[in-house]
Amino acid sequence: MIILQIIFFLIILFVVKTAIIVVLFNEEVKNVQKRDPAARSILEVVLLYQGLHALIHHRIAHYFYQRNLFLIARLVSQASRFFTGIEIHPGATIGKDFFIDHGMGVVIGETSIIGDNVLLYQGATLGGTGLEKGKRHPTIGNNVVIGAGAKVLGNITIGDNSYIGANAVVIKDVPANSTVVGVPGRITKQDGKKIELSLDHIHILDPLMQNLEELEKRIKELEKKN
Ligand SMILES: CC(C)(COP(=O)(O)OP(=O)(O)OC[C@H]1O[C@@H](n2cnc3c(N)ncnc32)[C@H](O)[C@@H]1OP(=O)(O)O)[C@@H](O)C(=O)NCCC(=O)NCCS
Repeated sequence: MIILQIIFFLIILFVVKTAIIVVLFNEEVKNVQKRDPAARSILEVVLLYQGLHALIHHRIAHYFYQRNLFLIARLVSQASRFFTGIEIHPGATIGKDFFIDHGMGVVIGETSIIGDNVLLYQGATLGGTGLEKGKRHPTIGNNVVIGAGAKVLGNITIGDNSYIGANAVVIKDVPANSTVVGVPGRITKQDGKKIELSLDHIHILDPLMQNLEELEKRIKELEKKN
């Protein structure tokens, strides 16, 4: 009998939670449906999307954080991490239409600022680079996509409409409308145009890469002479 009561209580809790999400976080739910073609129904999104759950928990944790209730804020965020595998520090500022796809392993640091319409894939990290205090995490512009496993580190800015490739490690500012790949991150496209690394000296982020390009050019010249 007691088991039946527990099951009944859990079902009620479940229905109430679902109703609260649908009513209070309707915009977030719609955003997931818009972003993920695999999302078939509102119920599926509300019940099964960890990225949505993590965002809703973060909105609650951030509310407490802003009122200096740091322990409760951390409690909510750590509980969320336990259930979703996504760790968002309650201090992080996140804009509208944010979506985390797949989610597992995403980490967002305390002083990160994320603009509107940003998409993060699993394993993406917005992290710090040391023990410094103050603003030490990235600022992400609007309409940015951060690929699976990418690490964006330090107090840097990623410009609007940029694409950070899977597994890239970005440690320097990225101008708007750029595509960045590799370790350390290199800009491969700007304003929709491919960047020729050996000719472009403004956008090269990696001096080692620059030297290698230079060497390659000289070897080709020598080969031509022979
Ligand atoms: C970066 C990315 C957006 C590429 O965009 P694109 O503009 O179409 O780039 P291209 O495919 O034309 O590739 C450009 C160059 O970068 C290389 N490249 C592309 N993605 C790369 C990556 N993640 N890491 C290293 N190099 C990469 C390509 O090999 C190509 O090199 P080349 O010019 O020497 O041939 C894309 O490859 C990516 O990483 N997306 C992330 C998606 C993701 O995380 N999905 C998870 C789904 S679960």
